[in-house]
Amino acid sequence: MATTHSVDPDALLAELLLTEEGKADPYPRYEAIREHAPAFRSGLGFVVVGRFDDCQSVLRDGRFGKGEPAAPWLQFGLTEEEWDDRYAFFRRRRSMLGLNPPDHTRLRGLVAKAFTPKTAERLRPDIVRLTEEIIDRFDGVVDVIPELALTLPIAVIGEMLGVPEADRAALQPLVRDTVATLELNLSLEQLDAAARAGEGITAVFEGLIAERRARPTDDLLSELVHVEEQGDRLNHDELIATIILLFAAGFETTTNLIGNGLLALLDHPDQLQLLRNDRSLVKGAVEEALRYDSPVQLDGRSAMEAVEVHGLALAPGDPIITMLGSANRDPRKFSDPDRFDITRTGQQPMSFGAGIHFCLGAPLARAEGQVVFEHLLDRFAVIEPAWGDDRPAYRSSLVLRGLEALPVRFA
Ligand code: HEM
Repeated sequence: MATTHSVDPDALLAELLLTEEGKADPYPRYEAIREHAPAFRSGLGFVVVGRFDDCQSVLRDGRFGKGEPAAPWLQFGLTEEEWDDRYAFFRRRRSMLGLNPPDHTRLRGLVAKAFTPKTAERLRPDIVRLTEEIIDRFDGVVDVIPELALTLPIAVIGEMLGVPEADRAALQPLVRDTVATLELNLSLEQLDAAARAGEGITAVFEGLIAERRARPTDDLLSELVHVEEQGDRLNHDELIATIILLFAAGFETTTNLIGNGLLALLDHPDQLQLLRNDRSLVKGAVEEALRYDSPVQLDGRSAMEAVEVHGLALAPGDPIITMLGSANRDPRKFSDPDRFDITRTGQQPMSFGAGIHFCLGAPLARAEGQVVFEHLLDRFAVIEPAWGDDRPAYRSSLVLRGLEALPVRFA
C-alpha cells in the first residue's frame, strides 16, 4: 500500500476492522497509520496509537485504566433497564482483566504465584507429556489448529485448575463465544451468545466448586475455593470470574501463538531449517512468532483523567486503542520489522501487553510454544504445508488473530 501523506487513518482503520482484506493482512495498513497518524481520534469514538513507545507508555501509565463505555445500550437501541436485564452477567462477573487497583491488585495477587516463570518451568515436564500424547497420534496430514493448537493449551490449564477432561471439551465452544466480547464491532447476537455461554460456563464451574468444597484436591481450583472460604479476600462472583478468566485467557491466545508461529515457520523454510539445526534457537523462535504475527493485536484503556498522548488531548473517559500488532512492527524498535528472523535479539515484543495488566500467563504460554516447536521437530523429519492453493485463512476477528485451519503434513 502507498504510504502517502494523504492517508486517511479512519478509512484504514475501517478496512482493518470491517473488511476481509484488512483482517487478512493488517500490517500494511498498520504501517500507514503508524507512520502518518501516530495518534488520531477515530470517527468510531476512540483514540488510536500504533507506535511501540506510545503503546507502551499508555499501558504503563496510571492515568489510564479499565473503563466501561458510556451508555453502551444506546449503540444497540436498548434502554438501560433492558441492557442490565440481558447482560447483568458481564457486570457481576468482572475479572481482574477489567478492573483497576485496588481490586485488580488484590485479585491478581491471589493467583500470581501460580504463574511465575519458576512455576512454568516446573510444569514443563507436564507440558511435554501432554504435547507428546497429542503428537503421538499425528500421521500424514493433520489440521494443527483443532488437533494441537486448541487442545494443548486447554489440557495444560485444565490440569492446573483441575477441570476434568470431559468438561474441557464441553467448555471449549462456550469459551469461544465469550471471548468474542473482546472484539470491537460486536453485534447484539454475539452479545446474547456470549451472555448465554457465560451462564453455561458458570454452571460447569459451580459444579466443580461444590465438589472441591466437599473434597479438596491438589489443584488451583481447590486453592481458590479455600481462599474464598477464608473470608474477605475473594467473594463468590470474583471466584467465578477468576476461574473463567484463567481457563479462557490461555487458549484462544496460545492457540494463535502455535498456529501463527507454525505458519510463519512454514512460510520461511530457511528459518525452520535453522531451528531444526540448532534447537537452542527455540526461545528466539517463539519470541519472533509472538512479534511477527501477534496473537493479540489490539489492547486498550480509558483515560481516567485529562491526559495528552503524542500531542493529542484526551478527556476523562476517552477510550484509547493500543495496536500491539503494529507496535511489534515498528521500525523504531525492530530493524527490518517485516522480516521473520528467529535469530533476533534485543527488544521483546509487546504481545503480552505492558504495565499492571501484563499477561499473567506469559511464562506458561512461552513454555507451551517452545515445547511444541521443539517436540514437533524432534519427532518429524518432514513438516510441510499441506494446503495446496488454498492458503490458510484467518478467523474473522482482529483483536485475537488466528487461523481457521492449518493443514500440515508430518512424516
Ligand atoms: C500467547 C499467548 C498469550 C497472549 C498473546 C496473551 C496476551 C495477553 C495480553 C495482551 C494481556 C493484557 C491485556 C490488557 O492489557 O488488558 C493479557 C492478560 C492476561 N493474560 Fe494472557 N496471553 C496469552 C496467554 C495466557 C495464558 C496461557 C494465561 C493463563 C492461563 C493468560 C492469562 C492472562 C491473565 C489472567 C491476564 C490478565 C492480567 C491482568 O489483568 O492483570 N494469558 N494476556
